[in-house]
Amino acid sequence: MAGIFITLEGPDGSGKTTQIAYLRTLFEREGFTVVQTREPGGTPIADRIRSLILDPAHREMTARTEALLYMAARAQHTAELIRPALHRGAVVISDRYTDSTLVYQGVARGLPQEALVWLNRFATEDLVPDLTLLLDGESGNLAQRVADRGNRDRLDSEGLEFHQRVRAGFLRLAEQNPGRFRVIDGEQPVENVRWAIEKCVMEFLRKRGR
Ligand code: TYD
Repeated sequence: MAGIFITLEGPDGSGKTTQIAYLRTLFEREGFTVVQTREPGGTPIADRIRSLILDPAHREMTARTEALLYMAARAQHTAELIRPALHRGAVVISDRYTDSTLVYQGVARGLPQEALVWLNRFATEDLVPDLTLLLDGESGNLAQRVADRGNRDRLDSEGLEFHQRVRAGFLRLAEQNPGRFRVIDGEQPVENVRWAIEKCVMEFLRKRGR
């Protein structure tokens, strides 16, 4: 495919939302057309699934239901938005993707990893990001950031131990996929995080011969 697929991952409160805007301007500065999106969501159908999943009233939702809903949203998002944009030659930047499910539903909620790997492949028809930036940070500090933000969704309300499993899960995935992942310390001052992101992106583009 002609385009480039970048994902931004990390625990809640790691600063993805702030940094994705910067990531976008970086690629635009380099002359690319950028499509910025997020999971769960990115298309009208996937956005409706998002509200189902994150509604704090849905306490009865089982881990398996949650996993399948994330997968359903991802299938629609990938087919309707991500793949067509990549075919047009765009840079697609997604706030979360397949790795979030492996970590939140797999490592943190304890669902079998192999099933989730298989479902990810099924949902995306094997679309894997070209580069994944992981914003990392100590779980207690990130939880404090989320608390300061106010309005917590269903997943933000999980305890510290859940978020520690999330952090460890992301770091393990990064270790297992060193070619695709770059880990960035999300607790540094915003300027330093930007600088680290820029370094990763420039190195990535250089390797691709751009
Ligand atoms: P997000 O919108 O990134 O939340 P925030 O902006 O608060 O970081 O993601 C919403 C929540 O969904 C977040 O807690 C992570 C969770 N999530 C999963 O558990 N599995 C998934 O596959 C995805 C994409 C997200």
